[in-house]
Amino acid sequence: MRLSNVLNIDELRDISRRRLPKLVCQYLEGGSEDQLTLSANREAFERIQLVPRTLVDVSQRSQKTTIFGRVYECPVGIAPIGAAGLFWREGDIALARAARSANIPFVLSTHSFVTLERVSWEAGGPPWFQLYMPRERDVALTIVRRAAASGCEALVLTTDVPVGANREYNERNGFSLPLRIGPRKMLDGLLHPRWVCRVFLPTWLERNNPMRLSEWATRRDHMCWGDFDWLRDAWPRKLFVKGVLAVEDAQLAADHGADGIFVSNHGGRQLDGVPSPMELLPQIAAAVGGKLTIMVDGGIRRGSDIIKALALGADMVFVGRAAMYGLAAGGEAGVRRALQLLRAEMDRVLALLGCASIEDLGPQFLRTALREPAIVRPLAVPRLRTA
Ligand code: FNR
Repeated sequence: MRLSNVLNIDELRDISRRRLPKLVCQYLEGGSEDQLTLSANREAFERIQLVPRTLVDVSQRSQKTTIFGRVYECPVGIAPIGAAGLFWREGDIALARAARSANIPFVLSTHSFVTLERVSWEAGGPPWFQLYMPRERDVALTIVRRAAASGCEALVLTTDVPVGANREYNERNGFSLPLRIGPRKMLDGLLHPRWVCRVFLPTWLERNNPMRLSEWATRRDHMCWGDFDWLRDAWPRKLFVKGVLAVEDAQLAADHGADGIFVSNHGGRQLDGVPSPMELLPQIAAAVGGKLTIMVDGGIRRGSDIIKALALGADMVFVGRAAMYGLAAGGEAGVRRALQLLRAEMDRVLALLGCASIEDLGPQFLRTALREPAIVRPLAVPRLRTA
């Protein structure tokens, strides 16, 4: 199917499922353990209904959004995705270029197959950079300095991976990086020769193959707010914490000088059984909305999902898999198509909702049956360990 004939993100997903070998597909689509959180991320949107206003002049609609003084075309960004080079050769460059031409932020993962410097060069400007903080301070400092030298405006510290998640499908499939080739994977590859020739082999044959990510397996279970304080001192620009779900942690992020947070459960890929970020967003926005820029991700597949998240209090909404489906389906052009579809859907929803501008969105446009947390506790601030 031609990209111009694709009508929604699900259709891009269908193409990507045909293009990618099973083990890569499951790496992209899977959650963790029983996939409860993965399902919750989608179900939350089904429980939020839109309440439109009528007879409102919506002829001058705008999605323009200003974050930290920078005007973006719409309040959408591309979330960091490790090993995006498995979906398209040098996938991070394609993602960065598509984001740049759409004038939206792209967050490059620590686990990119392409260096930050090359992505910045090839895309004509630096991405935001996502950091998995290494244990060794000198290694962390080197990365931070590289991000600063590349001109990255923002550093995104991912904090919800103290240890690797239980992803049984990866184990069953023998998924590892670098990919090791066994008989079953060979068969999987033979069924997807286009992927083998266009993605796997060129990447595999490259010298200094960055698929050999030594830090992939690095443990981060030592990390605490003291490490965040160190990073706050070391990094001069915008600093975000990604992986916040508890109101208390949002408050701590503000107290420790973060500029923003990603309310996120890692796309349902870490701790299984946690709620959708949408369930917690209203409380978090109420607690720290004036102090922090609030970003959210998880389960976004439609423009209406983005509108709902914004109405619940997010300043910006990030897409992970939705952009990767586009990437696997057609590289940079596929990502552009994914973004174009989401923007067009948002535009239509805004018009039908009777809301001309993103800034006017709010809970008045929603009817929610989101669950409250079972226990509402007073703010408990843990004792800090200085790193
Ligand atoms: C991720 N995510 C992620 N997050 C991060 O901080 N660093 C990373 O390297 C990765 N890698 C990664 C790989 C894959 C295959 C997926 C699907 C996700 C999480 C990602 O940034 C984001 O939080 C979720 O993808 C959002 O959920 P949706 O939009 O994919 O449903």
